[in-house]
Amino acid sequence: MSEFSYSISVMKRKGIILAGGNGSRLAPITKSVSKQLLPIYDKPMIYYPLTTLMLAGIKDILIITNERDNQNFINLLGDGSSLGISINYAVQSRPEGIAQAFLIGEAFINDDPVVLVLGDNLFHGYELIAKIKQALNVTNGATIFGYPVSDPERYGVVDFDSNRKVLSIQEKPLHPKSRYAITGLYFFDSSVVKKAHLVSPSTRGELEVTDIHNMYLNEGSLNVELFGRGMTWLDTGTFDSLNDASSYIRTLENRQSLKVGCPEEVAWRQGWIDSNDLKLLAKPLINSGYGNYLLNLLEK
Ligand code: TTP
Repeated sequence: MSEFSYSISVMKRKGIILAGGNGSRLAPITKSVSKQLLPIYDKPMIYYPLTTLMLAGIKDILIITNERDNQNFINLLGDGSSLGISINYAVQSRPEGIAQAFLIGEAFINDDPVVLVLGDNLFHGYELIAKIKQALNVTNGATIFGYPVSDPERYGVVDFDSNRKVLSIQEKPLHPKSRYAITGLYFFDSSVVKKAHLVSPSTRGELEVTDIHNMYLNEGSLNVELFGRGMTWLDTGTFDSLNDASSYIRTLENRQSLKVGCPEEVAWRQGWIDSNDLKLLAKPLINSGYGNYLLNLLEK
């Protein structure tokens, strides 16, 4: 079975990319452009979380942006039809927390399970599709992904026992109980909307996704999948991490002649667009080399 051939069973699952925020750690670059439109080597940052959702077989996607940059995201991705998917857009007027995505996206979610991915999170690696499949098999509850880091105090941290039963979730703890950071990829059943309505703003004035995780934890329906050393997870919100991510992608792509986070390729491999569609997408991209990459896929 190909790694791309399981999408039919998850047709109804919705996807949200949260791509608002202030991007204050990237000022002054973000004074006039959204962080998620900045390049990670050869493509805009949002292509990476977008392809993560597409690899999960998700074709119905909501992109949440700030007001200023909304039109630029539409200019970039349109309604998704050229990729054989549907993309809708919504505005978050102020960055009032990750959990607000479920209030903004309430009508879009409409009683379906939903996957949320943060617009500045890049996932890559051999394990990714297998782990996503595990999460897709869970129909009730939520699945989060833990990733071992050297500085867990900067993140939400998940602690679990030897059976991988979640024991606690802590937001930026001074004394982390584990070194597993919670990544910006979350699978939820449709009860997430009801739960988001119960969240109150934290001391930093945000609706915290951690509060939602804790509600699932209290119900006994919070699952954790762990990414191992074969996986790369980068959040790309600072000058150094942006540069590191670009170098990482550049090294991989030049070495393998395979692109990471290429939505046109994923759409084609999923069978959502055909070879003619791919040729049409490649045409305006020839000068940069991106288009030639797409055309070469047809010859391999
Ligand atoms: P952060 O990196 O925590 O915040 P930010 O993007 O505003 O950047 P900075 O801290 O430099 O000011 O956000 C993580 C991701 O989630 C990022 O892709 C933006 C998105 N986000 C929103 O879209 N809305 C929100 O309310 C929050 C908190 C985050």
